[in-house]
Amino acid sequence: MKWWQKTVVYELYPKSFQDTTGSGTGDIKGMIKRLGYLKSLGVGAIWLTPVCKSPMVDNGYDIEDYCAIDPSYGTMEDMDLLFAEAKKRNIRIVIDLVFNHTSDQNPWFLESKQSKDNPKADWYIWRDAKEDGSEPTNWRGIFGGSAWTWCEERQQYYLHTFAYQQPDLNWANPDVRKALYDAANFWVNKGAGGFRVDAIPYIKKPEVLKDGEPDGKDGMVSVHDMTVNTKGILDYLHEFKENVTEGHDIFTVGEANGVKASELHEWVGENGVFDMIFEFSHVNLEFKGIETWCKPDPWTIQDLKKALRNSQEATRDNGWYPVFFENHDKPRCTDHYFPEDADKGQCAKLMGTLLYTLRGTPFLYQGQELGYRNVKYDSIQKYNDISSYGQYDLALSEGLSEEEALKAVHRFSRDSARTPMQWNDQENAGFSTGIPWLPVHDDYKTMNVEAEEKDPSSVLVYYQQLAKLRADYAPFTKGDFEEILEEDENIFAYRRNTKDQSIFVLLNFSGKEVSYDCSLTENMQYIFGNDQPKTGVLKPYQACIYVKN
Ligand code: NOJ
Repeated sequence: MKWWQKTVVYELYPKSFQDTTGSGTGDIKGMIKRLGYLKSLGVGAIWLTPVCKSPMVDNGYDIEDYCAIDPSYGTMEDMDLLFAEAKKRNIRIVIDLVFNHTSDQNPWFLESKQSKDNPKADWYIWRDAKEDGSEPTNWRGIFGGSAWTWCEERQQYYLHTFAYQQPDLNWANPDVRKALYDAANFWVNKGAGGFRVDAIPYIKKPEVLKDGEPDGKDGMVSVHDMTVNTKGILDYLHEFKENVTEGHDIFTVGEANGVKASELHEWVGENGVFDMIFEFSHVNLEFKGIETWCKPDPWTIQDLKKALRNSQEATRDNGWYPVFFENHDKPRCTDHYFPEDADKGQCAKLMGTLLYTLRGTPFLYQGQELGYRNVKYDSIQKYNDISSYGQYDLALSEGLSEEEALKAVHRFSRDSARTPMQWNDQENAGFSTGIPWLPVHDDYKTMNVEAEEKDPSSVLVYYQQLAKLRADYAPFTKGDFEEILEEDENIFAYRRNTKDQSIFVLLNFSGKEVSYDCSLTENMQYIFGNDQPKTGVLKPYQACIYVKN
C-alpha cells in the first residue's frame, strides 16, 4: 500500500487556522506552531487550501502568482520552513492547484486582455458579443449572475465559471498547459506530498459555445451543465500526469463535482489520471440537479447509504477513495446530516466513525475533529463568502422573501466551515490577538481544543482514538468493503474484511432506538464506539465497532 492510503489527510484552511501576527488572518508560522496538534490526530498529510499570492476575492482560489506566497500568510522562507518542520514529523504538505482559472490580476490575464493579438491573447476564453451586444451565451456562473464579463480594452467578453475576478484559462492552448505544468513542478521540487486539483471537470470547453435551455427564472442555464466533463478532458489530464506527477511518490486528488461514481474508473487507478477523486453525491444529497441553495430536495438515510455504496463499489477493484464529509465549501456535518434537536456530540462521533472506517483515505476538515457547528449570522451583509451573496440574490429572484433567502444561506453558506479555529476559551478563542477576518463562532467557550483535550468524552479525544484504532487494525486500511443490512432504513452497517480479521461497523443514523439481528455480532468483540454497546439494539446516533479474528 502507498503511504497516503494508510494515513489521515487534514484539510487546513489557512485564513482561519492560527494567526501569529495579530493581523486577524491565519498564517504559515501559525501552522508550524500547531504541527504537534496535527500529529496528535494521526495526520500524515496536510492539504492547504491555496496559499499563493491572491487578491483573495475567493479566499485564494483566485491566484495572481502560482509560485509566490500571499503576503498575508508570510513568505516563501516561511513556507520552506513549514515543509522542513512537517517533514521532521513525517507529515507531507499537499498543495491546491487552481488550474481552471486565475485571478483577473494575474499578469497572464492583464496581458491577454490588452488586445486580440498579443502573445497571450488566446490564454483565456474570449468571445464577441451577440449581435445585440449581449453575452455570447446565456450561461450562469456558479456563484450567480452571467458567466461572461465585458472587457472594454478588447471589446469582447471573457468566460468565468466562478466570479468575474476568476477568468477561465484556455486549456486548448498548449502554452497555457505548459505554464501550468511548470507551476505544478515548482511545488514538486519544493517537496510537495501531493496535489488537490481544483474544479477540474470544467477545464475543457465544448468546441462551440451555445445557449442552453434555461433552468431558472433568470433565463439562464448553469455553466456547470454546459461545460462539465467535456469529451476529451482526460487527454489533457493524462498529459498533466505525464508532465508532473508520474514517477514521484506523491498523490493527486481531483475535485470533480459532476463526475459520477460510474465514471470514476476512467479517472482513478492505474490507467486513470488521478489517485483519487472527490465525488460529491453524498454531500449533495439535497441537490438532485444543480446546487441551488433555495431549492433543496428532500433526502433519506437510504439515499446517503446508496451514495456511499456507489462510491465504495466504484473504487473496489480500481483506484482509491478519498472519504470526506466536510470541506471548506460545505456545511458542518453535524448540521448537514442531522436535525436541529439531535445530540450533536453523538452525531459528530458517528460521522467520525464513518469517516475512519470506510475503505479509502479519510480527509478530515479543520474543526470537524472538534464537532463544529454552522454559523447563522443575522444579516447577509455579515457573510464573507462570495457564493453566499450569489445564492442569496438567486433566491430573491426565485421569489423567496429575504428571511427565507437568509435561511438558505444559514443552511448552506461556506462561511460555516470557515470560522476561525477555537484553540482555547480566551479572547478570539486563541486564534488571533487582532480582529478575526470572520467572527469566531459563539460556542468557543466550551468547544475548543484546550477544553476538549482535557475531556476524555470529547469529540476531539474520540478522533484521536479513532486514528490510533485505524493504525492498529489492518482491516481499516486493507480490508474490503462488504455492506450488511442494505435494506435497513436507519442503520448503515458494513464489514471490512482481510484474510485474518474482520471489522464490523454499525451506525444508527436515526434519532430513534433501533434493533438489529443480534446474531450479526455473535462471536465478535466490541472495540469502540460512542456509547455503551447493547447486543441487538442501537441508541439514537450510536456507532459501534466490533472485531472478529
Ligand atoms: C472549488 C473550491 O473548493 C472553492 O472554494 C472555489 O470557490 C472554487 N473551486 C473556485 O476555485
